[in-house]
Amino acid sequence: MGSEKQGFIWLSGLLFLNIFVLSTADVHYYEFSLQESPFTKLCSTKIILTLNGSFPGPEIRVRRGDTVFVNVHNQGNHAVSLKWEGVKGSIDGSNELIQPGRNFTYKIELKDEIGTLRWHATSAWAAATVHGAFVILPVATEDYPFPAPTSDQTIILGEWFREELTEANQTITPGSADAYTINGHPGETYGCSNDTTFEMQVDYEGLYLVGVINAVANETMVFDIENHRLTIVGQNGTYTNRSFTNSLTLAPGQVIDVLLLPNQNVGHYYITARSSSGTHITNGILRYTTTTTSF
Ligand SMILES: *[C@@H]1O[C@H](CO)[C@@H](O)[C@H](O)[C@H]1NC(C)=O
Ligand SMILES: *[C@@H]1O[C@H](CO)[C@@H](O)[C@H](O)[C@H]1NC(C)=O
Ligand SMILES: *[C@@H]1O[C@H](CO)[C@@H](O)[C@H](O)[C@H]1NC(C)=O
Ligand SMILES: *[C@@H]1O[C@H](CO)[C@@H](O)[C@H](O)[C@H]1NC(C)=O
Ligand SMILES: *[C@@H]1O[C@H](CO)[C@@H](O)[C@H](O)[C@H]1NC(C)=O
Ligand SMILES: *[C@@H]1O[C@H](CO)[C@@H](O)[C@H](O)[C@H]1NC(C)=O
Ligand SMILES: *[C@@H]1O[C@H](CO)[C@@H](O)[C@H](O)[C@H]1NC(C)=O
Repeated sequence: MGSEKQGFIWLSGLLFLNIFVLSTADVHYYEFSLQESPFTKLCSTKIILTLNGSFPGPEIRVRRGDTVFVNVHNQGNHAVSLKWEGVKGSIDGSNELIQPGRNFTYKIELKDEIGTLRWHATSAWAAATVHGAFVILPVATEDYPFPAPTSDQTIILGEWFREELTEANQTITPGSADAYTINGHPGETYGCSNDTTFEMQVDYEGLYLVGVINAVANETMVFDIENHRLTIVGQNGTYTNRSFTNSLTLAPGQVIDVLLLPNQNVGHYYITARSSSGTHITNGILRYTTTTTSF
C-alpha cells in the first residue's frame, strides 16, 4: 500500500515535471519580407537587398529550447536562401532557394543553444546586407551563469560598398569594402557629414550583456570600447568560462558575448571597430546617461 502510494506520488511528480518542461518551450512565428530598398551612406544612394527594409536586418529574440517558424516572402529580384549559423538541430529546408515572388517557412528547433547567434543570406553578395542577430535568452526560470545583466544590446559589425553587389560577386575579397559599419552606421570617419553614428546609452554601473557579431565577409575585426574592459561570457551560441580583455578579435562570422560594466567617469567613450588588415576604422559612441549617485 505504502509503496503504491509512493509510486503514485512519484508518477504525478513526473507528470508535473513534463508539463512544466513543455510549458516553458514557446513557439514563435516571424514574417519577413526580402525586398530591394534604397539606402544612402557615404553620401551616395544605392539599392540593396534587405529583410524588411532594414540594414542590418531584424533581430530574432527567443528563449532556450524554443521553436521558431520564419516565413520569408521574397519580394526582391534574386533567388535567396537564409542560413541560421550555429543552430545545432535540424532545420527544415535549410538549402532551399526562395525564388522571387515565392515564400518559404524555415522551422528552427532550438536545443541548448544560448546567447547570440547570427542569420544571413547564403551567398556572399546578399549576405553583405541580409544578416541579423538571433538572440537566445535563458528560460524564465533559469539563471545566467554570470551576474545577471540589467539590459542587453546587439552590436553588428558590417561593411558598406559604394557600388552595387550582384550575383557576379560570388566572393568578397578582404579590404574591398569602402567602409565598416556598426549596426548600419558608418560613423564620422568617412568624411560624409550626413552619415550617422551608432550610439549606445548606458547607466553608470548598470551591467550590459553585449553580443558582438562580425558580419564582415572574409575579414577579422578588432573591437574595443575606450577605457572599458570587457568580460567574455559566451561565444557562437554557448556560454564560456569568463575571461577579461581590452579588445575583441572576431574571425569572419564569429559572435562573442561580453559583459560591459560602465564604471568610468561619466561621459562618452569611443567604440571602435577596424579590420585587422587595417584598411578602415569606424567609430560609435558609448554614452553615460546618468550621473553617479554619491552621498
Ligand atoms: C516584416 O514585414 C512583414 C511584412 O510586411 C510584417 O508582417 C512583419 O511584422 C515585419 N517584421 C518585423 C520584425 O518588422
Ligand atoms: C545631406 O542630407 C540633406 C538632407 O537630407 C540633403 O539635402 C543633402 O543633399 C545631403 N547631402 C549629401 C552630400 O548627400
Ligand atoms: C507562404 O505564406 C503563406 C501565408 O503567409 C503560408 O500560409 C504558407 O504556408 C507559406 N508557404 C511556405 C512554403 O512557407
Ligand atoms: C563585384 O563584381 C564586379 C563585377 O565583377 C566588380 O567590378 C566589383 O569590384 C565587385 N565588387 C566587390 C566588392 O567585390
Ligand atoms: C576571401 O578572399 C579570398 C581572396 O583573398 C577569396 O579567394 C575567397 O573566395 C574569399 N571568400 C569569401 C567567402 O568571399
Ligand atoms: C571552465 O573552467 C573549469 C574549471 O577551471 C574547467 O574544468 C572547464 O573545462 C572550463 N570550461 C571551458 C569550456 O573552458
Ligand atoms: C566561432 O565561429 C567562427 C565563425 O564560424 C569561427 O571562426 C570560430 O572559430 C568559432 N569559435 C568557436 C570557439 O567555436
